[in-house]
Amino acid sequence: MVVAEPSQPIGMFDSGLGGLTVARAVIDLLPHEDLVYFGDTGRFPYGPRPPDEVRHFALEIADLLVDEGVKLIVVACNSAESAAFYRAQRHYDVPIVTVIEPGVKAALGATHNGRVGLIATEATVKSRAYDSAMRQLGPNVDLISQACPKFVDFVERGDTTSDALLATAEDYLGPLKDAGIDTLILGCTHYPLLSGVIRYVMGDEVVLVSSAEATANEVYATLLREDLLNRSDEPGAHKFISSGEEGLFSELGRRFLGPEFQTVEKRGW
Ligand code: DGL
Repeated sequence: MVVAEPSQPIGMFDSGLGGLTVARAVIDLLPHEDLVYFGDTGRFPYGPRPPDEVRHFALEIADLLVDEGVKLIVVACNSAESAAFYRAQRHYDVPIVTVIEPGVKAALGATHNGRVGLIATEATVKSRAYDSAMRQLGPNVDLISQACPKFVDFVERGDTTSDALLATAEDYLGPLKDAGIDTLILGCTHYPLLSGVIRYVMGDEVVLVSSAEATANEVYATLLREDLLNRSDEPGAHKFISSGEEGLFSELGRRFLGPEFQTVEKRGW
């Protein structure tokens, strides 16, 4: 049972800055909603960690967001969702929106040859969460997965253009090109920030699917369904919390999200 009010903020989290790609899409679609974003940069990265540990972190953050008074939680992190975070839904009175299913649906809408690639963290690839979503939603489609653990470190350093990044992208993406995919799911919320290099290596014929927009659409639909849409005409307020060093988080937050990123509060464990 949802016990929230429309005037309460939307809560969102990721291991770091990647979820800001989802925040951008949500702010664009729902400019009157308040937002509380938590980036767990003090414990980043989640990708190499065991699922139990990531699940424990995700529950701690969801509790923190509930204490902040949010009306809905967006898990803007594939690795947290893959660690079976969605099972926690029953612990919370607010709806939870996740990123994997919206991404899979968008990829199914884009593919013509039925060969879809997935790039994600090791945690997400190992969990096979995308494979099971694909089996359910598009059983005739082949999913070819590639873990790209080094990508997130480039993003958290603010490096989206170096030669070292290009060489890494060529290594990771070569096998997917050879596999003849026509659609590539960016199965980590950090990766849309590397879409320049990913597009360059994959070529224009491959459609890149980011779950950010599809997830924002799901947030809108959920708020509408639950009668939780904020009908105010005022622009929403946006609050950013990080468990790590505030300096770099602010600098990159402003670069990746834009003017809505003002200050960051430090909080953590
Ligand atoms: N942005 C996160 C995701 O979508 C993971 C990055 C990490 O912490 O490894 O999976």
